[in-house]
Amino acid sequence: MPGVAITGREMTRDYPAGERSLTALDHVDLDVTPGALVAITGPSGSGKSTLLHVIGGMDILTSGTLLVGDTQLDELPPRKLVNYRRRVGFVFQRFHLLPALTAADNVAAPLLPYQAGKALQQRARELLEQVGLGDRGDSLPSQLSGGEQQRVAIARALIVDPPLLLADEPTGNLDSATGETIFDLLIELHSRTGATLLVATHDPAVDARCDVHLAIRDGKMVPPTDQEARVTFARPGTSSD
Ligand SMILES: Nc1ncnc2c1ncn2[C@@H]1O[C@H](COP(=O)(O)OP(=O)(O)O)[C@@H](O)[C@H]1O
Ligand SMILES: [Mg+2]
Repeated sequence: MPGVAITGREMTRDYPAGERSLTALDHVDLDVTPGALVAITGPSGSGKSTLLHVIGGMDILTSGTLLVGDTQLDELPPRKLVNYRRRVGFVFQRFHLLPALTAADNVAAPLLPYQAGKALQQRARELLEQVGLGDRGDSLPSQLSGGEQQRVAIARALIVDPPLLLADEPTGNLDSATGETIFDLLIELHSRTGATLLVATHDPAVDARCDVHLAIRDGKMVPPTDQEARVTFARPGTSSD
C-alpha cells in the first residue's frame, strides 16, 4: 500500500486544565511526502504523542487543518474517524497486546470484527513470519520477551495494510540492542510496504536513521536551523550498544 501525504496547517490541540487550558500542540504546520520516514523528537511532554494521535485519528484538533491522503480530518465527524483509524497502523511504546490472546490472535485482532476464519489466521501467521516470529503464533504475550512483543505489535499494525504507520517511542521500553533490531525491522517494513512512517522518539540513534527530522518543543515545531545542529550532534550516538 503506497504511503499517504500529510499536510497540517496551524494545528492546535488544547486540553482543559482547571481554569486554564494546556496547549499540547500550538499552531503546528506539517508537510510529509508519501512514503517518507520521519522522526519526531522532543522532550517528554512536548506534544509528540498528541501529534501522532491527531494524525492517527485517535484525537482531534481544537483548531487548524489536517489532510492525510484524501481525508480532511478536521472536517470529519467523530463517528467517521472510526473508519479512518482502521487503516492506520499504530505501534506503541508499551506494546498494548491483549494478554489473554495468542500472538496470532493479537495480530488478527484489528480485523476480527470485520473478517473471521482461516484466511485471517493465515495472514496473521504470515505477518508473524515476516517479523521473525513464525513459530510463536500460539504463544501468549506473557511468554514473549519485550522485543518479541513489539514484533507482534508491529505485525498487528501491518494487518490492515496501512498506508500510514505511526510509531510512538517504539524502542522506548527495550534495551538498546533490542531497540536497534526492532527499528531495523520497522525500516525494512517501511521500505517494503512504501507506507509513510512517523516515529516519535527520544532515541538519537533512531532519529539519525530517519530521512526527515522534525523537532517539537512545548507544542511548537523547532526551526530547521536548530534541528540541523541537533541532528549533527546526535549522529555519533548511532552505534549505541
Ligand atoms: N488527554 C490529555 N488530557 C490532558 N492533557 C494532555 C492529554 N494528553 C496530553 N496532554 C498534555 O499535553 C502535553 C503534551 O503531551 P504529549 O503529547 O503526551 O507529549 P510527549 O508525547 O512529547 O511526551 C503534556 O503537557 C501532557 O500532559
Ligand atoms: Mg509521548
